[in-house]
Amino acid sequence: MDSIRIGGGRRLVGTIPISGAKNAALPLMIASLLTEETLILDNVPELADVNLLTRILGNHGLDLTVDGKRAGESDRPGRTYRLTAGEIVDTTAPYELVSRMRASFWVLGPLLARCGQAKVSMPGGCAIGTRPVDLHLMGLSALGARIDVDGGYVVASAPGGLVGTRIAFPKVSVGATHNVLMAATLARGETVIENAAREPEIGDVAECLNKMGARISGIGTSTLRIDGVDRLGGARHEVLPDRIETGTYAMAVAAAGGEVELEGARADLLESALQVIRATGAEITNTNSGIKVTRNGGALKPVDVETQPYPGFPTDLQAQLMALVATAEGTSHIRETIFENRFMHVQELVRLGAEIHLDGEVATVRGVAALKGAPVMATDLRASVSLVIAGLVAKGDTVINRVYHLDRGFERIEEKLGRCGADIERLAG
Ligand code: UD1
Repeated sequence: MDSIRIGGGRRLVGTIPISGAKNAALPLMIASLLTEETLILDNVPELADVNLLTRILGNHGLDLTVDGKRAGESDRPGRTYRLTAGEIVDTTAPYELVSRMRASFWVLGPLLARCGQAKVSMPGGCAIGTRPVDLHLMGLSALGARIDVDGGYVVASAPGGLVGTRIAFPKVSVGATHNVLMAATLARGETVIENAAREPEIGDVAECLNKMGARISGIGTSTLRIDGVDRLGGARHEVLPDRIETGTYAMAVAAAGGEVELEGARADLLESALQVIRATGAEITNTNSGIKVTRNGGALKPVDVETQPYPGFPTDLQAQLMALVATAEGTSHIRETIFENRFMHVQELVRLGAEIHLDGEVATVRGVAALKGAPVMATDLRASVSLVIAGLVAKGDTVINRVYHLDRGFERIEEKLGRCGADIERLAG
């Protein structure tokens, strides 16, 4: 198993290109199941999760070409994906695949809408809390699907097709919104989703679906209206930039010091996070091609932050923020309100010398003068990148084990940071 070694203490100077958003690319790829025509996606990031999803979709009969070549013909996958689900050959998504990535559960809605049936394993993914799927099932049942849970599988059918209705989610869920939104595009009549998640990736998918012929309004708000259509067609769409990758590198620069331009980043996608990063003492400015993050000397300041659904501070940046304020001058409070148990990075940060006290959903971080390098273990995607940030500021060497978590969501991280002067290398294991 690969590991990453980081020699801490270097400032970051240069340019980091921001990739397409993982959390948009995955549902966009899944949306291709809704039509027999070709969906062309540009700016697809090269990530383990994307590769795994292509295998899952291939199982349903999806044909994929990457940059005009069949997948596998090129050892460096390109960034334009042509996805064609001419015929759905299998409506079952098996445990072996779905258990490895939670988002693959979202094939349920599209398969059900297009084929009138689907059997999808209950999901796996990052081990952060219990992560149920009750809201997904509630939404699809409301659209008229019959749903049974049997042997770890969700078995859904709607032989007469789905029928539009009003769905008010009791809690904001990104995945349930994606699943129901995609299903509703092919339902008869109008569907209204209230308390829909407003994450920019949902808007990106909705815009792509509209290019495919769907009729979705209210994009960007918490009430989505979908006028069902008989069929969807092909389209071409560019995946929006990754706001979590953007925030992560912005925090890395804030922590390590230096000046880095995040090329292709869109500040409007992560205002609340940028505000917090500014509050720690970094300067953030818009440039012609993205945003620039600067911190030259001066102590880091502590912050009090609570994770919230968009447009609030994202849970996917919580671990990274904790690494950033670990060396602030003063005490920070970070409350995690989205996922229980999303604090696995805490014990690893403590191994590096951070002083963090956990009490329920609140982490109190008492800034220390310096972190010290040590061997640590990556436990999930965002936790592992928080260890990278800590490693960049720690004195001496930090070795992060189990970095396959990083490869799920961060494209060429050691190359991107290395080009900005970080002492970082991948050790093949
Ligand atoms: C998505 C993101 C993930 C991000 C999360 C929250 C992708 C691929 N993943 O995950 O990176 O951290 O949004 O922004 O886009 N819940 C229920 N019942 C359900 C569904 C969810 O109770 O049926 C709960 C969850 O346990 C959690 C909260 O709702 O407490 C939010 O989860 P959700 O927004 O659904 O997260 P994901 O879509 O899995």
